[in-house]
Amino acid sequence: MIDKIKDLVAEIEALKANKKEEIEALRIKYLSKKGEISSLFNDFRNVPAEQKKEVGMLLNGLKEKAQSKINELKALFENGAGENDLVDLTRTPYPVELGTRHPISIVKNEICEIFGRLGFSIAEGPEVEDDWHVFSALNFAEDHPARDMQDTFFIQRSPDVLLRTHTSSVQTRVMEHTQPPIRIICPGRVYRNEAISYRAHCFFHQVEALYVDKNVSFADLKQALLFFAKEMFGADTKIRLRPSYFPFTEPSAEMDISCNLCGGKGCPFCKYTGWVEILGCGMVDPNVLDACGIDSSIYSGYALGMGIERVTNLKYQVKDLRMFSENDQRFLQQFEAAH
Ligand code: DAH
Repeated sequence: MIDKIKDLVAEIEALKANKKEEIEALRIKYLSKKGEISSLFNDFRNVPAEQKKEVGMLLNGLKEKAQSKINELKALFENGAGENDLVDLTRTPYPVELGTRHPISIVKNEICEIFGRLGFSIAEGPEVEDDWHVFSALNFAEDHPARDMQDTFFIQRSPDVLLRTHTSSVQTRVMEHTQPPIRIICPGRVYRNEAISYRAHCFFHQVEALYVDKNVSFADLKQALLFFAKEMFGADTKIRLRPSYFPFTEPSAEMDISCNLCGGKGCPFCKYTGWVEILGCGMVDPNVLDACGIDSSIYSGYALGMGIERVTNLKYQVKDLRMFSENDQRFLQQFEAAH
C-alpha cells in the first residue's frame, strides 16, 4: 500500500494537461468517488493497526497533492499557458500574403517623384472646402456653371461649405500664406456630382502643380510639360498644346500626348486621332495672384492640373474607372507589391 501511494504521488507530480477535458478526466481518475485515491481510502480498513498512522498520513498527503495539482493545471489552462506549450515551432508557417500598392497610388507617387526632380515639393489641403478657396479666389465668375449644383457637392446647411471639385484649391491655400518662389505639387481626392459609370465617378484624384516666381514664362511651362510627358510615358512621347479656357489661367491650354498605345498612328483608344488629352494648364491669371496676396506686377506663374485616373488608364489600360474603387483583389493584385 505504501509503495502504491508513493507511485501515485510521483505519477501525479508529473501530470500534464492542455485541454479542459483532459484536466477533468484527471480529476475523475484520481479524485472522484470511484477514483484511485478514494479506492485507496476504502482499502485503508485493511491496513494493520500498527501501520495506520503512517499510511493515513501518506494517504492524506496524496489526496492534497492531487487536489493542488488539478488546481494548478486549471490555473495554467485559464492563463492560456496550456495551449502555448503545444505550439510546434518547427511547423511551416501559414503563408502571409504581401499587399500590393493601389495603381492610383503608384501613379500618384510617380508623378510627384518626377516633379520632385524639378524642385517641386508636396502640398496638401482639405477635401471639405469653402467657396473662396475652390472658386472665388480662382477667378470663377458668380454664375460660372462649375458652381452649379450639377457639379459640386455642397454641405446641406451652408452653400459656403463644399467638397472640393479640384485640387486647384490647394494653390489658393499655399499662395495665401507663402510668398514666391513657390513650387508645389498637390495630389489629392476631389468630388463631383456625376452619375457613376465606366467613364465617370463622383470622386477621383488629381495632381495640381504651381510655380510662381519672377519671370516665369509659358516657355517654362512647356518645358516642364515635355519633361514630365517623356519621363512618365517614355522618351518617344510627343506633346501638343491646344488653346483652352480656365478661369484661373490666362492664357490656358490643354495638353495632349501622342497615343502611347498605337504610337500616334491611330487606334480606338485615341479615337484614331493619334493624340490623347491628359491635362489642363496655363499661366496663373493675375487676378488669382492678387486675390491671394501675391503682387502680380512683380510675379508670374504657371499652373497645371491632371486627373490621376486618366494617367493610370493610359499607363495600365484600365477600361472601367469603377475598378479603382471596388477593391477587387483580382484587379489589385496585378500591381506592384508594397514593400
Ligand atoms: N482644375 C482643373 C480641373 O479640375 C484642372 C486645371 C486646369 C488645373 C488648368 C490647372 C490649370 O492648374 O492651370 O479641371
